[in-house]
Amino acid sequence: MDIFAHRGSSGTHPENTLIAFREAAQLAVYGVEFDVHLTKDDHLVVIHDERIDRTSNGTGFVKDMTLEELRSYDFGSWFSSEFKGEIIPTLEEVLDVFSTSSHHLNIELKSDIFPYIGMVEKVLSLVNTESLKSRIVISSFDHEAIRLVKMLAPQIETAALFMESLVNPLAYLQSIPADALHLFMPAAIRSGALDAMANGVNVRAFTVNEEMYADALKSCGVTAIFTDYPKKMLDYLSS
Ligand code: G3P
Ligand code: MG
Repeated sequence: MDIFAHRGSSGTHPENTLIAFREAAQLAVYGVEFDVHLTKDDHLVVIHDERIDRTSNGTGFVKDMTLEELRSYDFGSWFSSEFKGEIIPTLEEVLDVFSTSSHHLNIELKSDIFPYIGMVEKVLSLVNTESLKSRIVISSFDHEAIRLVKMLAPQIETAALFMESLVNPLAYLQSIPADALHLFMPAAIRSGALDAMANGVNVRAFTVNEEMYADALKSCGVTAIFTDYPKKMLDYLSS
């Protein structure tokens, strides 16, 4: 079972910052997951929420701020004073951290609340390259966005994100179409997900921070887990 560092090594470092990604890049995990939004002046930035309030000393929506404005805020101190001065990274900066590693990169498009027109094309222009495309998976709760990814760049793996368990996720996945299922942990062990796995679909579960849940998912044949504690899970699952 593969391990993805969720928002970087976000249990030990401020989520979705370069220091959290550099920490993950040092680990022999399979991959790293991160979330992308679009600024007012059309820059791709890596942050989880639509607003910057929870993870910075600023307030407001990413979509209403320019990159320069966003860069004036501290995205480290909320986690610990040790990380004071961390700034919001662009997608390009995060990709650079992994330019010479072999980590797989899961880019989650956060266009499910605000549509972020043009985001898919911008992301593809950065990742649809010989050196990156074989280790990228693009996921979203916005299934229209991953449908567009598949139309524009069929060779890039896509994943539909779900919180709920579906009766027949395989049929739905084929209807989008998308390649993989990224599921909230309880949904990953329901019969629909097991059926998808039996049909060769990669099923990855989030967010798995407890060893006992990792054991349960592994025994169900889940392809990968997303965890905030990649080092802990790596030590546990490789022992
Ligand atoms: O991509 C897996 C997981 O990150 C989805 O949920 O809210 O943590 O982005 P969220
Ligand atoms: Mg995410």
